[in-house]
Amino acid sequence: MTLPLANRRVLLVIGGGIAAYKSLDLIRRLRERGAAVRCVLTKGAQSFVTPLAAGALSGERAHTDLFDREDEADIGHIRLARQADAVVVAPATANMMARMAGGHADDLAATVLLATTLPILIAPAMNVRMWLHPATQRNLALLRQDGVAVVGPNIGAMAEAETGPGRLAEPQEIVAALVAMLEGRAAPAQLAGRHVLVTSGPTHEPIDPVRYIANRSSGKQGHAIAAAAAEAGARVTLVSGPVTLPDPAGVAVVRVETARAMLAAVEAALPADIAVFAAAVADWRPAAETGEKIKKGPGGPPGLALTENPDILATIAQRAAGRPPLVVGFAAETQAVVDNARAKIARKGCDLIVANDVSAATGVMGGDRNTVLLVGRDGSVETWPTLDKDEVARRLVARLAALAGA
Ligand code: CTP
Repeated sequence: MTLPLANRRVLLVIGGGIAAYKSLDLIRRLRERGAAVRCVLTKGAQSFVTPLAAGALSGERAHTDLFDREDEADIGHIRLARQADAVVVAPATANMMARMAGGHADDLAATVLLATTLPILIAPAMNVRMWLHPATQRNLALLRQDGVAVVGPNIGAMAEAETGPGRLAEPQEIVAALVAMLEGRAAPAQLAGRHVLVTSGPTHEPIDPVRYIANRSSGKQGHAIAAAAAEAGARVTLVSGPVTLPDPAGVAVVRVETARAMLAAVEAALPADIAVFAAAVADWRPAAETGEKIKKGPGGPPGLALTENPDILATIAQRAAGRPPLVVGFAAETQAVVDNARAKIARKGCDLIVANDVSAATGVMGGDRNTVLLVGRDGSVETWPTLDKDEVARRLVARLAALAGA
C-alpha cells in the first residue's frame, strides 16, 4: 500500500500559541504517512516548542531566523519556499494570519510564506474572541481569496476556560486536509460510501394555472450543503424546489414544485444515511387548486382558503422504519431563535437543528452569508460566526460526518 503522502515534502510553519505543542504530533503523523517534513518556527513558537524537538522529530534541522548565517548558507529562505510540495501553517495564530493577509515579510516564516508559490494550508488556533473578531474574519476571507486552504478551527473548550471556535484542528484532520489539498479536492472523502439526502429551495403552491404561493428562499444554503457533501465523497440526492442556481457538481438533482411533490421525492430517495432538510417548505397551500385562471369579477377579490402541507422533516424523522440515522432540520426564525429551535427539535423529532435568524435586516434570505446556531437534541447550543454559506455547508458536513461516525 502506498502511503498517502509518499514522496511529498512538507514545509511546516509552526506559529506561536499554546497549540504549538500539537505540531510535534503533526510532524509524527505526516512522517508516518510518508512525508518528509522540514520545520520553520516563529519566535513565538519557540516559547512553546524548541527547534531541537521539531528537528529531532522531523529528522531535519528546524529553521528559525531570517538572517541566520548557517541557515542561509544551508538552504536560504527562497529555496526553503520552493523545495517542498506544500506549506502547512499549524498553529496559524491571529497574528500570523494578519501577517500573511498583509503580505508581511518580517521574519523567516512570513518571508517564506510570501515567497512561496506552493499550495498553503493553514490550521488556525486562537482564543475564540480573537477568531470571531471582524479583523480575523477579514484576514481569513483575504487568505481564502489568495487560494489558501483552511482546516478548522474546531469548536470546544479552550485553554482559557472559554468555549467556541478556536481550537487547532486535530493532527489527523490537518493531515487529511493536506492530502485533500494535494489531490485537488476541497475536503477529505469523509463521507465515501454514504448517501446524503438534502432538500433545498422554496416550494411553489399553485393557486391557479398562473399563480402560486412562494417564499424568499434562494436555495443557496441547501445547494451548498449538497455540494459540500459531494465534495466529501458522499452520494448525494438533492431534492430542490424552484431555484435559479446551477446544479452542484456530482449531485443527483430531483426538481419539484410543491411540498407534496417534495415529500414524495424524498421518500423515493430513501434510504439515506444522513438527511438534511434545508428547504423552506410552504406550510400551507391553497385548499382548492382551480384548473382555470381565476378571473376578476363583480364579486371582488376571491378568498384564498389554505390547507396545511405535509411536514416533510417531521414525517421522515418520525418514520418507524427506514428513518435515516441522522436527520437534520433547519429553523428559520425571526425571533427567539434558540427557544423556537429547541421547541422545533422536540416537535419534529430530528437530531440536530441548524437555526438562523431570517429577519429582513440580517440579509440571510437570498444572501451569501449566514449566521447559524446548532441546537442539539439535548438542548445544547453552539453559535457559529457569520460565514459564507459555502463555509457553513463545509463545516456542517464535517460535523455530520463526525456525528455519523464517518
Ligand atoms: N419543513 C418541512 N416541511 C414543512 C415545513 C418545514 O420539511 N412542511 C422543514 C424545513 O425544511 C426545516 C424545518 O422543517 O428543516 C423547519 O422549518 P421552519 O419553516 O423553520 O419551521 P415550521 O415547521 O414552518 O415552523 P414555524 O412555522 O412554526 O416556524
